[in-house]
Amino acid sequence: MPKNLGKTPPMGWNSWNTFTHAINEELVKGVADVMVESGLKDCGYEYVVIDDCWSLKERDANGRLQADPEKFPSGMKALADYVHSKGLKFGMYSCAGTHTCAGYPSSFEHEFEDAATFAEWGVDFLKYDYCFKPEGIPGHLLYKRMGMALRNCGRDILFSACSWGADNTHDWIRQTGAQMFRSTGDIQDNWNSIVNLAKSQFDRQSQQGVYCWNDIDMLVVGMHGGSNNGFIGGDGMGCTDIEYKSHFSMWAIMNSPLMIGCDVRNMTDATKEILMNKDIIAINQDPEGRAAYVLDSSGWAGIGVKIIIKALENGDYAVGLFNFGDHRAQGTFAFWDMGLPTASGLGFEMYDCWEHKTEGKFSERYTVDIDAHDCKVLRAKLVKM
Ligand code: GLA
Repeated sequence: MPKNLGKTPPMGWNSWNTFTHAINEELVKGVADVMVESGLKDCGYEYVVIDDCWSLKERDANGRLQADPEKFPSGMKALADYVHSKGLKFGMYSCAGTHTCAGYPSSFEHEFEDAATFAEWGVDFLKYDYCFKPEGIPGHLLYKRMGMALRNCGRDILFSACSWGADNTHDWIRQTGAQMFRSTGDIQDNWNSIVNLAKSQFDRQSQQGVYCWNDIDMLVVGMHGGSNNGFIGGDGMGCTDIEYKSHFSMWAIMNSPLMIGCDVRNMTDATKEILMNKDIIAINQDPEGRAAYVLDSSGWAGIGVKIIIKALENGDYAVGLFNFGDHRAQGTFAFWDMGLPTASGLGFEMYDCWEHKTEGKFSERYTVDIDAHDCKVLRAKLVKM
């Protein structure tokens, strides 16, 4: 039985956003090396996950999935061993339907044997997609099947469901044993996609939590249009570093798993600074896993600065102010709206999680100007004024 998997939002790297079909063992080994050397591992990123397109188009004579020997000549067990030798964990991909989204064999009617194969190979994480779903069998049952198979395969394998929020995923996904679940369609390496995905999940924060996290999709931080896939990114797409900073902050405060999607072997300094911001990661990994809420009663309609709050284990509050608008704008919030009456004689000491410094004490309210698409993330500590 899995032991405490998914106690905090899973963190790691996934091959899909940048490489799609163009994966092989050299790439995965190189990524594992860099995860250690760059300091990503020390920040908590632990899963190295191969997405779709890793297998041959047919199962072997015994009905087992087989790795493509051109892409993975040493086989998956050897690759898992390599990843483990770096102190990291190894993830793979399959699908609940008859084929994976890219048309490779997948696990429908093979759930228990595939779970056994993954366990034998030393897999620690399984992303489980939702393409080519057979008629006449509800999606929740397909995920319950693989959930049962993984929970009894003799190895701790984190179950990462990827049903894109379809068929009211949020209502039944916890029942399947999944530790995280994709709640949206696929992300694209542009600002509109980031904002739309985040907005679409806000009302659903309370339907996730410890052991079953709402995955708003893999990060595009640092991709800068570097995908080999025209839908996800490619030439002419990409975001500014400010936009990647806001994207990372939003995913973090909304408790999304943090799965890096860029080529970590070629990170700029700005990308490293974003992905390795320990103050932001601490908000995401807070042990209590409280759901965030939008403070602004005007909700998500329209543009302007939106404020997201998350209560943290030690009594502090994470406060993210996000300027979704295309112009510099003022963000302001009254502490009253978080539950703090001024008459209490208390206020907040604000720590800026991007500047990494304390700003001082504030009573009653906090106001700041924020550039277009930028954000401010504070850690607010309750103090006597
Ligand atoms: C779906 C998923 C993606 C990726 C691809 C692979 O689109 O949502 O994250 O896994 O399939 O084909």
